[in-house]
Amino acid sequence: MESKTNPKTNEALDNVMYNYTVNAHRLEAENKILKETIAHLQSEIKKLREPALMVCEVADIVGKQAVIKTPNGNQFFVNISSEVKNLKPGDSVLAEQKNLNIIKKISVSKKFNVERFVIMEKPTTSWKEVGGLNEQIEEIKEVVELPLLNPKLFEKVGIVPPKGILLYGPPGTGKTILAKAVANATNSTFIEIVGSELVQKFIGEGAKMVKEIFDLARRKAPSIVFIDEIDALAAKRIEVGTSGEREVQRTFMQFLAELDGFKNLGNVKVIGCTNRKDILDPAVIRPGRLDRLIEVGLPSKEGIEQIFKIHTRRMRLDKGVNLKMLLKKMDDFSGAEVRAMCTEAGYFAIRSKRTKILQKDFVQAIIKVKQKEKYDDSYLKMFG
Ligand SMILES: Nc1ncnc2c1ncn2[C@@H]1O[C@H](COP(=O)(O)OP(=O)(O)OP(=O)(O)O)[C@@H](O)[C@H]1O
Ligand SMILES: [Mg+2]
Repeated sequence: MESKTNPKTNEALDNVMYNYTVNAHRLEAENKILKETIAHLQSEIKKLREPALMVCEVADIVGKQAVIKTPNGNQFFVNISSEVKNLKPGDSVLAEQKNLNIIKKISVSKKFNVERFVIMEKPTTSWKEVGGLNEQIEEIKEVVELPLLNPKLFEKVGIVPPKGILLYGPPGTGKTILAKAVANATNSTFIEIVGSELVQKFIGEGAKMVKEIFDLARRKAPSIVFIDEIDALAAKRIEVGTSGEREVQRTFMQFLAELDGFKNLGNVKVIGCTNRKDILDPAVIRPGRLDRLIEVGLPSKEGIEQIFKIHTRRMRLDKGVNLKMLLKKMDDFSGAEVRAMCTEAGYFAIRSKRTKILQKDFVQAIIKVKQKEKYDDSYLKMFG
């Protein structure tokens, strides 16, 4: 007997089959996507787990091996991966941290652009903008300005002017503006670097930076290399223990070498600045280096008056402003504080919707600056 299939059942079964096939396809596709995602994530995890590679410089090639220089200056004899071809001394390479084997050659621009890291300008500050400090100005004119403007004179007299000076004294007394004013008076390029930045930012590169900075100064001469916070670079070191200290030491040595090296560089002058002359390594102020020490202290009464006049030159003062009385209240101010006081007085006027500055604006401003000073002091004490 022939079995009769029910067409309805057949259709239902076809539908079920169809649905299964569609589902199977969908699941296969999903499975594929998930597998790909897993593979991708696994490779990401692997990448993240891999230790960082170190950027080193090839110092020498010895057969199938090489001598490399690590960023802290140490040298190692290492293997080269067979995938790395055509290595030459001077190339930059990536090396494994553990065994220092060379994994890959990279193209790092060898000459890093020093101009991106220093502040270079032609300052517009004139001597007239410096209040008080007459003796300091005279001395700087003698040892920096005159040799830059009239080098022949020194040849005729047969003396060699100092290569550089050291300005030292408390914060905000005008050291930076003095340096800028002499750069302006001699139309020199002013190249500014900060000692603490030089030793912190350019780990492993400090000495190279110093060399590049002096090369730049020679190219842009006449120029003034201004090193703020020179104590960060040139502090006395009792023992050079950690690699960080050795690094600072190397940078400092390079600085001394540059100072000693430029005999024919009459038109590059170095001005170092510090609030901490007491901790300086005496090597930096030896004859032939920064051997003119110029103290820039807190201003005298006349100095404060001059600085006040300089910073109120463009302000409209009320006739009732009694300068004598104000000066009595500012006797321990630094130049920077006098300037801050004038700015604050301007703000008090603005708050009262005036453009003319009254005596009371200055009085309030003095109180405000003094309060800030007190706050800064106690703040500093809190942190030792
Ligand atoms: N003698 C001064 N005459 C005129 N303005 C001054 C004088 N001293 C300080 N000032 C004002 O204070 C600001 C800060 O001064 P400056 O940067 O020269 O101080 P500094 O001695 O370099 O301080 P630091 O040691 O903190 O670097 C200057 O921009 C200037 O406006
Ligand atoms: Mg300064």
